[in-house]
Amino acid sequence: MQCMSSFSLITISLIWWALLPPPSRLPLPPGPTLLSASWPENDIAKTFHSWCKAYGPVVSVKIGTRTIIILGTRQAAHDLLERRGNIYSSRPSSIFMDRYLNKGLNPAFMPYGSTWRLHRRLYSTLLNVRESYAYRRLQDIGSTELLHELLSTNDFPQLFYRYTSSVMLKLVYGKGGNIDDADHHRLQQINDMATFILQKASFRTIVLYLFPLLDKLPMVFMKWRQQAEQLHDLTRQVYVECGNAALQGDCWNWIREIHDRPESKDLPWEDVCYSLGELYVAGIYTTKMVLETFVTTCTDHADVVRKAQDELDSVIGTERLPAFDDMDRLPYISAFISELVRWRPISPIGVPHAVIQDDEYMGFHIPRDATVIANQWGINMDEAVFDSPEIFNPERYLENPERHLSGFGFGRRACPGYHLAKASFFIVISRILWAYNIDRKTQAASEPAASTIMFTVRSPQHQEVIKREQERTRRQDARQILEEVRLQNVKN
Ligand code: HEM
Repeated sequence: MQCMSSFSLITISLIWWALLPPPSRLPLPPGPTLLSASWPENDIAKTFHSWCKAYGPVVSVKIGTRTIIILGTRQAAHDLLERRGNIYSSRPSSIFMDRYLNKGLNPAFMPYGSTWRLHRRLYSTLLNVRESYAYRRLQDIGSTELLHELLSTNDFPQLFYRYTSSVMLKLVYGKGGNIDDADHHRLQQINDMATFILQKASFRTIVLYLFPLLDKLPMVFMKWRQQAEQLHDLTRQVYVECGNAALQGDCWNWIREIHDRPESKDLPWEDVCYSLGELYVAGIYTTKMVLETFVTTCTDHADVVRKAQDELDSVIGTERLPAFDDMDRLPYISAFISELVRWRPISPIGVPHAVIQDDEYMGFHIPRDATVIANQWGINMDEAVFDSPEIFNPERYLENPERHLSGFGFGRRACPGYHLAKASFFIVISRILWAYNIDRKTQAASEPAASTIMFTVRSPQHQEVIKREQERTRRQDARQILEEVRLQNVKN
């Protein structure tokens, strides 16, 4: 009897073993171990880049139960995140994000699946090439105001914030130029959330990601989990209030547009408000950061600025502002922008992906649930692709304008705001370069970098055009423009 049951046990085990997928005989990609790794530099993208130089285009690191795969070339990112997008488009689970900060409601951090797909489809209806084209009139007004304000202040970070938030506020919530007190207060709370995410959340996310057991500690030991949860509740409330107000508003906006779409009926209304609130935040800070980088880059590259201004002077002259219709006739400006995104990507290691099933690549095993990071900064500094990559040189995009830009991510998770952001870069950057010289004053040790940068209008004629254009745009009604966007949507 005992013999029989041992036999059955062995048979069942054999069948079970045969049915299991075979454990991979392939090794993980090479990479440093805790003992062999050089101490990470302050800048993690540079550390990853040095690992890829030492070990190859695909590197793995094991920390605790986590496997992290780092992709160091455009080819590897293309092969995995784009060509095998059906399995490489998830996000790593994150206790901090999922349990505290956004409780799974932010589509940018959702796992790959039907809920994410639904949100992503809604984003695409708002941000595809054709729709983004229709928003250019708002960007025209905003950038003219920006130019006009630069006549009286050098506080460009604040002006860029006003530009991006005014464009997003109009689009998402249908708000005109004047923000009344109540709205301002609400949106300030969202602003706090974004600042929190940008400054603190990434570190805290990593701590809990690498050491999930820490989450078992009582709240008193890591109070920031509680703060994140409170901030989440507040933000959620603000997003819903702003969403409901936009629904009752007197002009077209994204909230209304999505509310009327049949796809949105498959999601709770609160989740839709949260999703669009996050889109509002994503649209403000990213674009603002690139524009700030543009200004500091100009102060260190007088020769490049001169070439850009020569092009603007010969194509546009001094009688009018550059406009969207000039884009094709300003190839150096377009190359300048592409090079800016290559040279200083605002998210150097992008947003991590996760792979949802075991895979093989270049003879290596990529285990299911591994976090996959395309090191955008490292890809952009690849000497095999870019000559002297550390030099800011727009000419490389002048020669090859279609060259891929690694700054907006890859594959199915690539940035949906790309077209909107690109239009903002063009209109703001071409107009500032057309109108102003940007110089750095000698800096007192106590002064913040931004306060040492001066904008000087290039001539009285340029100033006159700015004032005239400001008068023209001041008379335009944003609500009317939004209504026209709606009518255009209906026609299409
Ligand atoms: C300076 C401009 C911007 C840059 C450099 C940028 C960059 C990125 C990057 C690197 C990703 C991750 C892609 C990936 O996982 O492979 C991303 C995702 C995303 N971006 Fe942007 N972005 C910009 C502007 C915007 C704007 C204007 C919006 C919205 C209006 C936006 C909305 C989003 C959203 C919603 C995601 C998450 C997509 C998903 O997970 O499915 N971004 N962006």
